[in-house]
Amino acid sequence: MNLKDRYGTIALITGASGGLGEEFAHQLAAQGMNLVLVARNQTKLQNVAAEIQKKYKVDVWIKTADLSNADSTLKLISDLEKENKEISILVNNAGFGSFGYFHELNKNKEVEMIDVNIKSPVILTSAFLPKMVAKKRGAIIFLGSVGSYQPTPFFANYSAAKAWNLMFAEALWAEVKPLGVDVICLSPGYTKTDFQNTAGAKGQKPLGGWSEPKDVVLRCLIKLGKKPSTIPGFMNWFLAWSIRFTPRRIAPLVSYFLFKPKTEVRP
Ligand SMILES: NC(=O)c1ccc[n+]([C@@H]2O[C@H](COP(=O)([O-])OP(=O)(O)OC[C@H]3O[C@@H](n4cnc5c(N)ncnc54)[C@H](OP(=O)(O)O)[C@@H]3O)[C@@H](O)[C@H]2O)c1
Repeated sequence: MNLKDRYGTIALITGASGGLGEEFAHQLAAQGMNLVLVARNQTKLQNVAAEIQKKYKVDVWIKTADLSNADSTLKLISDLEKENKEISILVNNAGFGSFGYFHELNKNKEVEMIDVNIKSPVILTSAFLPKMVAKKRGAIIFLGSVGSYQPTPFFANYSAAKAWNLMFAEALWAEVKPLGVDVICLSPGYTKTDFQNTAGAKGQKPLGGWSEPKDVVLRCLIKLGKKPSTIPGFMNWFLAWSIRFTPRRIAPLVSYFLFKPKTEVRP
């Protein structure tokens, strides 16, 4: 059974103007889902929407919203309600990271990261999950990271935010699976998107190698309904799970040496 038959007709994808969100849009449209695409960059959203409409003949609506701003997120929800758009699959994908010594990073940006990566998924999930439970069908996807599984110096705030997504998703999975709703946390390793550039983390050499967005998203959609969380790539999986057997004070030190900025930019 395809995702449309399983969950319903409309998927909402945050952060759909590029990267993994754009790939989610393609793969969900390929299964016949109509889409609501959300991000800040209207031109990029329009380009993604035009390509998808041409290729898959589904309905695509674009909504510009700044998910770091709760009012903007709430307006998105009320606009969808007014338009009678019932969301069957919610993909809480929008997010960004920042790389460096936490005490030197931009303070406002760090709070904004919490707003986009944590607060907006809470607001959106609170809005759409009750209706999914009432209908006994629906799905919610959260974006974690291999960093969800370990404290990650120089990505400290980001990895903690991603740990929140993993914990929240897995707990919800257990709560609502018996009520007919599927939840999964997708935790990719390094994936070829704009993420590293935005985070200011150029030149990293990931132990788990680089993943392609299409493989990462495909893995998530295959595992949706079967597992509470998934880590694409054997090496990423191995690294994430090996941390379970590492003493707590050793784990952050291993990451410290792996992630320590190669070029010191400090004064
Ligand atoms: N790529 C990786 O290596 C990797 C690894 C693990 C997890 N992830 C996670 O995967 C998710 C997708 O990231 P990506 O790799 O696809 O990165 P990306 O190419 O940088 O895409 C990020 C998306 O989030 C949107 N976004 C950022 N801030 C926003 C805001 N304030 N309001 C609305 N939308 C916002 C961006 O759109 P606009 O700029 O147009 O708003 C963009 O569409 C993130 O949650 C990230 O943490 C990525």
